[in-house]
Amino acid sequence: MASLGGNITPPEVDNKLLFAGLAVFLSAAIGFTKYSSSSKNDSSSPSTAEDPSLVRSLLLFCYSCFLKPHRADGKGASQQDALESFYETQAGVYDVTRKTLLKGREDMLALVAAQLRHRATLKEGKAAHGGSKSSNKTNKKSSAPSTPRIWVDVGGGTGWNIEAMAAHVNVPEFFTSVYLVDFSPSLCTVARKRFARLGWNNVHVICEDARKFRLEDYEPTLQQSVVPASPAFGALSAGSGYFSFDRPDHGGADLITMSYSLSMIPDYYSVVDSLSSLLAPDGILGAIDFYVQSKADFSFRNYTGGLVNRHISFFGRTFWRSWFELDRVSLEAGRRDYLEYRFGTVLSVNSRNYSLGSIPYYIWLGCHKKPFHVTSLPHEVVERIDAMVTESPYLGSTALTTRGGGGSSKAGRVPPSPATTISRAIQKSAPEIRSKAFQTAIANLSANLPLPAFFYQNHHWRIYYDDQLPKHTQFKDEYIYAFTWEDTRVDERLLKLNENDVVLAITSAGDNILSYAMQSPARIHAVDLNPAQNHLLELKVAAYTAQLPYEDFWLIFGEGKHPQFREILIGKLSPHLSSRGFQYWLSNEQTFSRRSSSNRGLYDTGGSKNAIRLFRYISFVFGLRGAVQKILNAKTLNEQREIWRSKIRPALLSRMLSRFVVSQESFLWAALGVPHNQLAMIEGDHAMDVAREQGAGGGSKTKTSTRTLRSHAVWEYMVNTLDPMVEAVHLAEDNPYYYVTLDGKFSRRCHPDYLSQQAHARLSRPGAFDGLRIHTDEIEEVIARLAPGSLTVAVVMDSMDWFDPESKADNSGLCPSSETGGMAAASQIAKLNRALAMGGRVLLRSSARTPWYLTVFERLGFQPKQHGNRTPGVCIDRVNMYASCWICTKVANLPPPTPGLDDLDGLSRRGSEAGGLGSGEIDKLVI
Ligand SMILES: C[S@@+](CC[C@H](N)C(=O)[O-])C[C@H]1O[C@@H](n2cnc3c(N)ncnc32)[C@H](O)[C@@H]1O
Repeated sequence: MASLGGNITPPEVDNKLLFAGLAVFLSAAIGFTKYSSSSKNDSSSPSTAEDPSLVRSLLLFCYSCFLKPHRADGKGASQQDALESFYETQAGVYDVTRKTLLKGREDMLALVAAQLRHRATLKEGKAAHGGSKSSNKTNKKSSAPSTPRIWVDVGGGTGWNIEAMAAHVNVPEFFTSVYLVDFSPSLCTVARKRFARLGWNNVHVICEDARKFRLEDYEPTLQQSVVPASPAFGALSAGSGYFSFDRPDHGGADLITMSYSLSMIPDYYSVVDSLSSLLAPDGILGAIDFYVQSKADFSFRNYTGGLVNRHISFFGRTFWRSWFELDRVSLEAGRRDYLEYRFGTVLSVNSRNYSLGSIPYYIWLGCHKKPFHVTSLPHEVVERIDAMVTESPYLGSTALTTRGGGGSSKAGRVPPSPATTISRAIQKSAPEIRSKAFQTAIANLSANLPLPAFFYQNHHWRIYYDDQLPKHTQFKDEYIYAFTWEDTRVDERLLKLNENDVVLAITSAGDNILSYAMQSPARIHAVDLNPAQNHLLELKVAAYTAQLPYEDFWLIFGEGKHPQFREILIGKLSPHLSSRGFQYWLSNEQTFSRRSSSNRGLYDTGGSKNAIRLFRYISFVFGLRGAVQKILNAKTLNEQREIWRSKIRPALLSRMLSRFVVSQESFLWAALGVPHNQLAMIEGDHAMDVAREQGAGGGSKTKTSTRTLRSHAVWEYMVNTLDPMVEAVHLAEDNPYYYVTLDGKFSRRCHPDYLSQQAHARLSRPGAFDGLRIHTDEIEEVIARLAPGSLTVAVVMDSMDWFDPESKADNSGLCPSSETGGMAAASQIAKLNRALAMGGRVLLRSSARTPWYLTVFERLGFQPKQHGNRTPGVCIDRVNMYASCWICTKVANLPPPTPGLDDLDGLSRRGSEAGGLGSGEIDKLVI
């Protein structure tokens, strides 16, 4: 924990003079922004009671903040005296002068309002299920709560925030009571006048030290319900859950806000402590304030909700602390740290006030730490954390069984209720399987720290990961794929998912995951090592869950641009995102919203933009723009073929382009996500073709350089991809993959399944993503932690191509001595075998016609079957980018046997006959 306080520069005359000059600049900046915002007629901002002139306001502000001597520094003076000495002269101009300085308050209000609305919707849903018809009726007519809803604004000043909240909710109706607690009588007077003018009788201005404020003194009904929090006092009834919202202890405030007040309260730890007994069990806490912090303070913490933009440079830290010390505003790191320590983090944002020289500020949303009592590790917490991630038997009591009561097994691949069927066997055979989330939770709880922010999000689907690991940071916060390059229609036809399937699939841009979700399998584990790919899926899922209107959804993901994206993100999507997902999209909001001709939206971002841009440049250089427009609008396949053959093909498939651009390893990786090993497979197939041709042609061998060979191989691969696809699939109607590449956006006629109105309606239904888990890790790490035999389908896309066939065998016995490598692939395949139920399937695509690792699959208990073979001239799917598509079906069990679902004796025997591993060998794998 960083320093708990103390002024770093005493406010002496020298310092004041030093900063007075800067104050002139600050005042000018405030004046300018104030002037420009008033000329824009900003009607959304609360009006001021007294409306003083701008010049007078700025002069007063300057005088009060930088020149006027502070009173009440000496012995015997109270904090209230000190506050009054600062505020009494400027209370009347406070609102005018703080609009620019106290930036982000509107965002904080929008964020907490979104959380409150989300909670209200949940409660309404619960009430509807509980049959409370009357309360439902009331809620439809107005936003009035059916149970009391209380907001306490701590250090609320002139009440500006409370009035500004009207932009989001109808304050007099939405809240039963609002308490503005402030210690400055002058500011309280302004506040009282404000609410009298507005006629908001539910707002109470309490001029009191926040350390002493007790809600029970003003809300008599709370006096009976508030009981001591400690279990030692018997507050915990036997039946009350640690995660349940109806615990009898804690306070009654559904919302507490602290807007730029924490930095002004000297005994902040006392106030922060008191918030805990002020906040209702399911209440939300919103804070916004200035801060300075160095990465040395926080980089070892996993509960901060993400660190994007949090570090402040040495100069910034020193300057801003000294500057604000003049007015007794303390920016030391300990204030924010203490909030984050005492509460769970729901959302966290680090930002800068760029209008005024980049002053650092944060917005933080918190909730009660859970479990409430750290002295014990209640088994239900442990089970819940683990069951979320591992397909553990504990799911029997949570998600799986709630989905249609376990369902009837139409296909008969797995028994009716997988959870109940496997649970006993797994408990016996693999009690040690624990997720990384579980291990982290234990580590945090035993150190008395809050759980990572993932545990406090409103939805369970994004699973905890450590974002500081190099394996994640290597992607530099950028996704490679802004859309997914695998044909969902083929997946649907091959897999025919049903309600009993438990699917693991690579996330990529999430498009295929959403297509699987439409088929409603019991569970989908989306896995990606790149956090940004998962952020993209999370954004799509949040947009459905927030029930964003279809038109907005289309603009964001169909066009890739939405001018109001920031407002939608904050006001609607934020309650449905993890803190890291939210941070990511807030800091990248220009992707969608920047209004400039150069901004081409979502599909011009990520690694795949390089391919799209290259095509755009080629079109420009070769004068193909007209032809591209024509092909995008071609009415018939014949018309399309004609344009392709005569105009586009000669340029795009020119040998020169292939040699100098497309076959460059760096381009293949950056633009198309083709790594070295995959390229080697393409080259390998090409070399075989050349050898065959040369053999057939009488053996006249010509020497070709490696570079030329590669360029030939890539060219041939492109020809085999594009020519048959253009001949077979009508781009303007039915090929969203190439449509978006050519046009930088989808069209209403041609888009992925998940963008259809029907998909939108279906996936926006409550509970549509109950079965989703989003893992940020390697596939191998995830499957190693799934309960054995719990998966029925794994879609690994082309990721197996990324393995090095030369990776050396060790003495684990996974690779027989006759083979030189492929150890890493073998390790993953063995884990897949263990995680899959008998008859479970692995769907994979490859750049090779017959990938080398198929033999490893066979040896490790799988039977591969080809479902797509892209011979020259053949189009196997709308993408047509892979040379082959395979399903490897699990036919044998590796020892030790996968429990529960298998015929253990028979299968382990068959496994060894199929070349399976001995139990001693498998022990060496980290499962
Ligand atoms: C920078 S102002 C922010 C006011 C308001 N929240 C806003 O955003 O405009 C800080 C406020 O904290 C109040 N404050 C400071 N110490 C306090 C205390 N111990 N109890 C209650 N209020 C306090 C001050 O009176 C002042 O109104």
